[in-house]
Amino acid sequence: ENGTVSRRIFSDDEIYRLEMERIFGRCWLVLGHESLIPNPGDYFTNYMGEDPVIVCRDVAGKVRVFLNTCRHRGNTVCLFDRGNTRAFTCSYHGWSYDTTGKLVGVPFLEEAYYGKLDKDASGLVEARVASFCGLIFGCWDKQAVPIDEYLGDFGWYMKQLYFAEELQLAVHPQKYMTATNWKLPSDNFAGDHYHTSITHATSRILGMFGRITEHQTDTGRFEVALGMHSLGGLETGGRDILERDRTRAESLGPEVVAWLAERHARWQNRMADVPAQAKSFSRGNIFPNFSFSGSGGGSAFGSISFYLWHPRGPGKTEVWHWCAVERGAPEAAKQAAIVSSSRGGLSGAGFFGQDDSANFEGVTKNTRPYVSSLVPMRYDMSMEYEGEWPGQESWVVGGLPGEIGPNFSEHNQRRFYSVWASLMRDERPSHG
Ligand code: FES
Ligand code: FE
Repeated sequence: ENGTVSRRIFSDDEIYRLEMERIFGRCWLVLGHESLIPNPGDYFTNYMGEDPVIVCRDVAGKVRVFLNTCRHRGNTVCLFDRGNTRAFTCSYHGWSYDTTGKLVGVPFLEEAYYGKLDKDASGLVEARVASFCGLIFGCWDKQAVPIDEYLGDFGWYMKQLYFAEELQLAVHPQKYMTATNWKLPSDNFAGDHYHTSITHATSRILGMFGRITEHQTDTGRFEVALGMHSLGGLETGGRDILERDRTRAESLGPEVVAWLAERHARWQNRMADVPAQAKSFSRGNIFPNFSFSGSGGGSAFGSISFYLWHPRGPGKTEVWHWCAVERGAPEAAKQAAIVSSSRGGLSGAGFFGQDDSANFEGVTKNTRPYVSSLVPMRYDMSMEYEGEWPGQESWVVGGLPGEIGPNFSEHNQRRFYSVWASLMRDERPSHG
């Protein structure tokens, strides 16, 4: 209500425990992309909060999500990052489960259980699954709203812009630990354009910063806060970016020039009825812990990075970073996107990842000491101008769903924390 957030929510063990129940036990959580498991039997492992899960395409082609823990005595059933299998066999006593989660093999079944083991009731614990624009979501809450409703107005942006082209994950995820609370990177991606030119001043070395500034003044940027759970930042793709892309395409070959022209026409077409003419996202967050960013300010050669901020205690986050590329792009354009992602995305060795992590860790460190913990964090920027701000008349925002705000604002973050607070106050019995 007053635009402040207590530092305790980033350090308190009891609050963290409640988050596992009421946030990660109830929200739809992004787990990956369908391109990771094209064939029956394909699987990869991931986490929902701290809970390990297997995401698998069963023999009939259906995507399923299982808790990665054996129903006998709890050992991890699948020990691998990814693969293809007909069954998951526990390394402890050898119980095995097929790709539908059914318990199909128990060593010494007769001698050990005398025919009394109910195999049908002993399958892997299964989560609800949904797919939207190729993203796979899992959820433990039987009462959770369907995925379209969960995404709200943000679904429009996913279909029209961010996930409009068919994507594929180009490289296996980079994973690294950072000493920060999971909410800080999530809130940053939900709309912190305020930090970009300061935190990421290092990008001058790559010659990126000048372009960002130029882009900001030429075309303007604005944020959108959409639906209840879905928060994202949007930028208008400037003509200068297209010009630069054309020059680059020429150096990469005629098939890249042709692809760029065809892609541009497709984007124009898709947005023909929208006066705002938005052409790309810069970043966004799907509540609670999935973020994404496009590099290159809407360039066709920019990558799309996917991030999962996996909670590992109040002061620790395991970062997963994937690079997504457009499936239909020529190989040269895909390679350019991969390089762009490892430089500019939050990859372990990228500029932006190190810039951001240093700040997130600095903030997290100061949430625990006693006196520091009493000083609230401020998220009250331009609170009085929500939905309408000085100079707004000159902005073209027509046809865009959700709530539109100016570039520098903390209104998306305020929504992030008010959604967080309302879920944390919900005392109904948990469905985990
Ligand atoms: Fe898996 Fe015993 S713990 S078979
Ligand atoms: Fe950043």
